[in-house]
Amino acid sequence: MQKLLMTTTVAMALGMAVGAQAQDAAKLAQDKACLACHQIDKKLVGPSYKEISKKYTGNKGAEALLIKKVREGGVGAWGQIPMPPSAGVNEKEALILVKWILSQK
Ligand code: HEC
Repeated sequence: MQKLLMTTTVAMALGMAVGAQAQDAAKLAQDKACLACHQIDKKLVGPSYKEISKKYTGNKGAEALLIKKVREGGVGAWGQIPMPPSAGVNEKEALILVKWILSQK
């Protein structure tokens, strides 16, 4: 619960800065090798970021859920190919990435 609260607080604090961070986020996605499996508007190994954004539109829990998924990996939301855990991504970076992904339209 405390962790969730913290995530929410960080999310709110970062929310306003996100526009300016879009470019940083794209670079982060590249640096963290997310783009090896994801493209913005085309399915690759994983779903496209536009598809992900569409799927979670209106889902208030999406940020927390996806931050966890980015850091710990998982399978079954999109099919049988698992997403590996991204050990080199900290909570703040995961939040920047998730906000960026969810802002793709
Ligand atoms: C080795 C390939 C691979 C890499 C690298 C990878 N992903 Fe994924 N990603 C996947 C696959 C496959 C799925 C679908 C998993 C599923 O069906 O649950 C996925 C799903 C996702 C989802 C949607 C999760 C859900 O539950 O709907 C997000 C968000 C995501 N990835 C973000 C990232 C980010 C950010 C990075 C970089 C830190 C990253 N991915 C790196 C393969 C990858």
